[in-house]
Amino acid sequence: MAKDLVEAAARVRALAAPAPQVGVVLGSGLGAFGDSLSGLVKVPYADIPHMPQSSVVGHSGNLCLGKVGEASVACLQGRVHLYEGHDLDRVTFGVRLLSELGCRAVVLTNAAGGIQAGFAPGDLMLIVDHLNLMGRNPLVGRNDDAAGPRFPDMTRAYDPPICAAAREAAAELGVKLQEGVYAGLLGPSYETPAEIRMLRTLGADAVGMSTVPEVLVLRHRGVRVGAMSCITNLGAGLSPTLLDHSEVEATANKTRATFTSLLGKWVEKVARLAS
Ligand code: HPA
Repeated sequence: MAKDLVEAAARVRALAAPAPQVGVVLGSGLGAFGDSLSGLVKVPYADIPHMPQSSVVGHSGNLCLGKVGEASVACLQGRVHLYEGHDLDRVTFGVRLLSELGCRAVVLTNAAGGIQAGFAPGDLMLIVDHLNLMGRNPLVGRNDDAAGPRFPDMTRAYDPPICAAAREAAAELGVKLQEGVYAGLLGPSYETPAEIRMLRTLGADAVGMSTVPEVLVLRHRGVRVGAMSCITNLGAGLSPTLLDHSEVEATANKTRATFTSLLGKWVEKVARLAS
């Protein structure tokens, strides 16, 4: 794994000059931010050794390198998920690469189903904590002592100053920003209405099928993390309509302009915190 990462990072460094300060992971339908970078260098995952590729519609596979304002950014445009059948080493390869490239902070995004009363499709939610309900942890196995400790602390997994920067960015842009706890489930089936009621009882505000493994790996490495969900639909049984991936993508697409500008402002602030 360490050798694979070194090889992948070497290829990326050969293609792009400035080392990134901040990493960004773009979820379903949220890839547009990658194309908005100035001085964009776009590297297809296929050109990066050992980089896994997503099979999900709406997830293109490119590493986008460039700048937002003064901040040097490396963006994963598309991710792989546990439900695609990859093991967790592969699922988290992209964020390990961001860390290997030198990112001291990573901002993750995803599409999620809303659970908290009052959430509506199109809302953006700052993730302040998570529930790992995937039944798996990417840190299982022999600990990589060079990367981080055997028992990493998760008390402040979602970095409080990075969360504060998101609130500031949203306030400056006049964007409403919800907050809550993200429950990460394995998928790929959406939840049943009973599972959504269970998740609400457990303290979840939104539910999705990604992000949690990436956060665990990044925190293990001491990388600072922020994360945001685009609430693309209400959880199963909370609205009269049935769930459909094309609707998830359509809602994510509708928030594109707002999401891209909020993410840009946030990332600039995060770069200042991480430098
Ligand atoms: N459940 C799980 N994952 C999701 C959902 C959902 O309702 N919407 C987008 N990703």
